[in-house]
Amino acid sequence: MNKCLVCESTFSPFISFGDQPIANGFLKEEDFGKEYLFEMKVGYCDQCHMVQLTEQPDREKMFHDQYPFYSSLSNHMQKHFRSEGEEIFNSYLNKDSFVVEVGCNDGIFLQYFKDKGMKHLGIEPSSNVAEAAKEKGINAWSTFFDEDVAKKAELEYGKADLVFSANVICHIPYIHSIAKGIESILSDKGVFVFEDPYLGDIIEKTSYDQIYDEHVFFFSAHSVSTLFSRHGLELIDVKKIPTHGGSMRYTLARSGAFEKSNAVNEVLKHEEELGLTKFETYEKFSKNVENSKKNFVALLEKLKSEGKSVAGYGATSKSTTVLNYCGVGPNHISFISDTTPMKQEKFTPGTHIPVKSREYFGQNTPDYIVLFAWNHKKEIIENEPGFEGRWITYIPDVHVF
Ligand code: TYD
Ligand code: ZN
Repeated sequence: MNKCLVCESTFSPFISFGDQPIANGFLKEEDFGKEYLFEMKVGYCDQCHMVQLTEQPDREKMFHDQYPFYSSLSNHMQKHFRSEGEEIFNSYLNKDSFVVEVGCNDGIFLQYFKDKGMKHLGIEPSSNVAEAAKEKGINAWSTFFDEDVAKKAELEYGKADLVFSANVICHIPYIHSIAKGIESILSDKGVFVFEDPYLGDIIEKTSYDQIYDEHVFFFSAHSVSTLFSRHGLELIDVKKIPTHGGSMRYTLARSGAFEKSNAVNEVLKHEEELGLTKFETYEKFSKNVENSKKNFVALLEKLKSEGKSVAGYGATSKSTTVLNYCGVGPNHISFISDTTPMKQEKFTPGTHIPVKSREYFGQNTPDYIVLFAWNHKKEIIENEPGFEGRWITYIPDVHVF
């Protein structure tokens, strides 16, 4: 039995992915023997509806001065965050507003507010990406956000009119300290807007690769509303967004400060219909994941027996779960192409597939390529008009296209 990180009720896991390494722990050959592994299991708490990992490695193992994820590498993500900034500005802010971002990465979201000359602060624990933000003139602190940091920020800059966070809140197990910090720094009419991969999409698409060490929570409108209402914050709006393979943007404010949009009730209703509040739904998901593994391994075995060459596209965090869970290594996939310099000439965590540059891929074109960065499918297919082989995906099911 495990204890819910939100409400402390006990729950049992519905799936185990076996031993998993640090998802972004790309490594050199000399470090193969030193990898940290943990058993990755996920459970559903029927008291507060939170789907969560049962254990997570220490945060310093995941977020540090070698964190290899730079948000601004994707043009589509840059466009996405600029229009997010604009939309939130038009709905809730003015030029005198103060904007705080929890986990600002390389400043991809704050750039818009900086360009407008607005007061802003980014809080980012991975120092290499925080430095990249500072180099662009973004005001950033390189630390983990919590209640105490929120107090310090308020002392220095005052109350915040927007606290924003993208693909970060779901990473933080000490969620009550985060919620208290946000609640304390928000101005009376301030809003807390955050987005994360959406549980509904994970269930509907069997996108089990969203489950890896960094993602401790898999949010729904049900669990978000329950969690933050404990801290006096009310879910006033929700919006489905396409990033990271299907995300939800949640807007929260002090209870009673704004009218609740219709979209909230609609999403809550949709979640009931999807079965997100029933344990059986998660048992069914677990079966779907097993099937996905069977089909993926069978396809790779078949291609191997036919002598076809297979590579991968995008050494994503998500791919770590798939490769380790399916037991797929360099025997099946000869290399993975990735544009991130910090990942190149290293090996994938746990399975040790070489990560190579886009140029290497151009010179060593395989017959088949597994699209591990499936969430960037449109952008990638557009960028690779010359690839004459076939693509493989496993979302929403294993197929060749
Ligand atoms: P992403 O799917 O955003 O995240 P996660 O690691 O959270 O699963 O990661 C995309 C990876 O794919 C990143 O390492 C960069 C790489 N990539 C390419 O190599 N080429 C591309 O055209 C794009 C869009 C991404
Ligand atoms: Zn709970």
